[in-house]
Amino acid sequence: MTTILGIESTAHTFGIGIVRNRKILANVKSTYVTEKGGIIPMEAAKHHSESKEKIYSQALEVSGVSEEEIDAIAFSQGPGLSPCLLEGIKFAKDLAERLRKPIVPVNHCIAHVEVGRITGAKDPVMLYASGANTQIIAYASGKFRIFGETLDLGVGNFIDNFARYAGIGFPGGPEIEKLAKKSSGGPEKKLIELPYTVKGMDIALSGILTNLKQKLESGKYGIQDLAYSMQETVFAMLVETAERALAHTGKKELLLGGGVACNSRLQEMCKIMCKERGAKFFCPDRLLLVDNGAMIAFLGEIMFKKKIYGENLDKIDIKPKQRTDDVNVRWK
Ligand code: ATP
Ligand code: FE2
Repeated sequence: MTTILGIESTAHTFGIGIVRNRKILANVKSTYVTEKGGIIPMEAAKHHSESKEKIYSQALEVSGVSEEEIDAIAFSQGPGLSPCLLEGIKFAKDLAERLRKPIVPVNHCIAHVEVGRITGAKDPVMLYASGANTQIIAYASGKFRIFGETLDLGVGNFIDNFARYAGIGFPGGPEIEKLAKKSSGGPEKKLIELPYTVKGMDIALSGILTNLKQKLESGKYGIQDLAYSMQETVFAMLVETAERALAHTGKKELLLGGGVACNSRLQEMCKIMCKERGAKFFCPDRLLLVDNGAMIAFLGEIMFKKKIYGENLDKIDIKPKQRTDDVNVRWK
């Protein structure tokens, strides 16, 4: 029996999860939100510092696990915002020192992928659509390879940026989804033409963002119709590249992940595509899609069991720019 505690702190969320034998015993988090405007890294880090003790005791309480039962501390090593990552690693190291346990440095993006195993997906192509990242990932010979990605903004940041411009607070995604549902009312929703920018296996979003802002500014278009058209256009770009990755790799499973995967229209479009090409569709629960500590603990446990961890705490540092395909996957 192994019990792993996982810490997530890469951006807006400070979360702690506890996993035992692939079962999630606790997944507690606190998220920094703003009424207006985007995320300020130092403010988010302050939020983490102020929430960490409370989140930690809640996680222990919810799980019924005592400190002595924890075998290792996993934490998000990167990619992410440095001030936020530093809060996480500091908490991980202090705890590891006090409990005399090893720490397991986990790549945040790969944790989003690997926690998908909980849904039953075995060897999927993953459409990872979160705030800072948008990638099509699949495992091939020793690494999680990126088959396609955004060339500029992550899709969540893109949506948040437009939402902010329209005077909606952070995160903008859920509000944009609600607005899109109200587009022009009735079944005849109004699709406004927007640039569609798929380049090979990659996508680009900044041109669409500028276009959307200009359209909003012109006063000729309603925010609900723009929100709807944005979702239809950009999600079609994601689904197109994901489908092509399924075709190239010959894999038969699509796994959706990252915070934007909470969007029911994106889920619907992925389901339709999978049905049409005879692939299986997987999507974890909402609490595992957004940033959370349970996914860090989940991958932490897999790595710990393969003896991939560090005991010399001085040698372990954050990796704010670590890429998915930088990591040698030694646990498969
Ligand atoms: P990363 O994994 O790249 O570090 P992150 O930490 O910002 O990114 P997540 O917590 O995975 O990401 O996702 C947050 C993003 O998900 C935000 O941009 C938010 O607007 C978006 N989001 C949440 N719910 C929805 C929704 N219903 N529709 C669209 N986007 C959504
Ligand atoms: Fe994330």
